[in-house]
Amino acid sequence: MQAPRHLVSIDDLSIGEVQTLFEHADRFAAAPREFSDTCRGMIAASLFFEPSTRTRLSFESAMLRLGGGVLTAADMRSSSSAKGESLADTIRVVGGGYADVIVLRHSSEGAARLAAQYSPVPVINAGDGAHEHPTQTLCDLYNLHVERGKIEGLEVVLAGDLKYSRTVHSFVYALARFGANIICTPQPGFELPEYVVQRVREEFGVAPVRADVRRLGDLANESDAVYLTPQKPHQLSLFTDLSDWEVQSVDAVYMTRPQTERLENQEGGYGQYMRIQKSSMAADSLRDAVVMHPLPRRDEISEEIDNDPRSIYFKQAARGVPIRMALLASLMGKIDMGTPSGEGHRESWPVAEGENPCPNPACISRTEPRHVTPMFTLQSRTPLRAHCAYCSRELIYSYVGCSTSKHYHKPDSSGLGRISADHLVFLPDEGSAEALQYSPAGR
Ligand code: CP
Repeated sequence: MQAPRHLVSIDDLSIGEVQTLFEHADRFAAAPREFSDTCRGMIAASLFFEPSTRTRLSFESAMLRLGGGVLTAADMRSSSSAKGESLADTIRVVGGGYADVIVLRHSSEGAARLAAQYSPVPVINAGDGAHEHPTQTLCDLYNLHVERGKIEGLEVVLAGDLKYSRTVHSFVYALARFGANIICTPQPGFELPEYVVQRVREEFGVAPVRADVRRLGDLANESDAVYLTPQKPHQLSLFTDLSDWEVQSVDAVYMTRPQTERLENQEGGYGQYMRIQKSSMAADSLRDAVVMHPLPRRDEISEEIDNDPRSIYFKQAARGVPIRMALLASLMGKIDMGTPSGEGHRESWPVAEGENPCPNPACISRTEPRHVTPMFTLQSRTPLRAHCAYCSRELIYSYVGCSTSKHYHKPDSSGLGRISADHLVFLPDEGSAEALQYSPAGR
């Protein structure tokens, strides 16, 4: 039997596949009631461990419009997970005959990756903690495609809580890969996480420079604004002072709410949160910008601009149905999605032995350790830098060992380049190395 195709990260789709999904979504949007034989007899299970309106209901609407059925667990606290059943077991049960596709939202980062390891049917990540929300990104990209006719070269402002917003993280990876320019105007203290910036810099050649955002009016705090561009690194290199790359004309402003549910460890909270209002939209550079928001909204977009033709956030939510119809039908093999190119794919390996080196307490490798083999992706070989394959955080270690030679090295040792990735062991200190009977390399 062929292994199922999952959507765990936005990286799992190539640019060509996303464009094919747009074409299908256009057909579904034009005549949503004409495809009710597409997935007849098939069932989607919604397993939601966190609240949702749009993601769950648009997936269920999509499945029903395709002629399939849905099993809804809108509040997994009423499921046997409340009795201590693991996510891995829940997935094995639901995927083992109850449903043909699983749509999963979970508070642990990397939960969908774990689910995909255990599921015999496709798993779709409907949001995993503060990590990723790839189908929201698919919806957001589709909206840019419909509104602007292209994504490459667009100027997109990301505003609000860029630290904890999973929709923003997936969106940044996709925008960088598509060749859009990103202007980050974060709520102070809630900038894009370093692991996200590092990744777009190293994998997509994105150059982060300080942005001069005076033309954005009251929307931006100049001191924190960053311009991420995959378009012009060669042009930027012609400038000797890149500290003020001026933002001229914006195609889209993407606002996000404060993610208060993830704030537990952030001292000081949000303070006065940024807000888009009528006066903000008078800024020169926003004359032709569409205003987007993954929703739910709190107070960060004033209702006074709801009727402004540039405000598309409700249309954006509505377009979640046709694009999710396209995704469901393709993952269930009912329509063609083209050939995966693997352009965003990151190879991962199990950590050979020792403690879990992931520092993130919200990672599924920490919240469900019995079912998770710690896995990593390699960000660079010299010095050796690795990220958790579940939550994408940079792993923390002082030494790196080889499970076959039983020698350990400093992360910047050139000797690490000769060790095969599946033999790498991440060691927090010399004591842990000795406890595992490793000795220093070169002795
Ligand atoms: N945008 C989004 O994920 O909304 P919900 O939380 O309502 O699903």
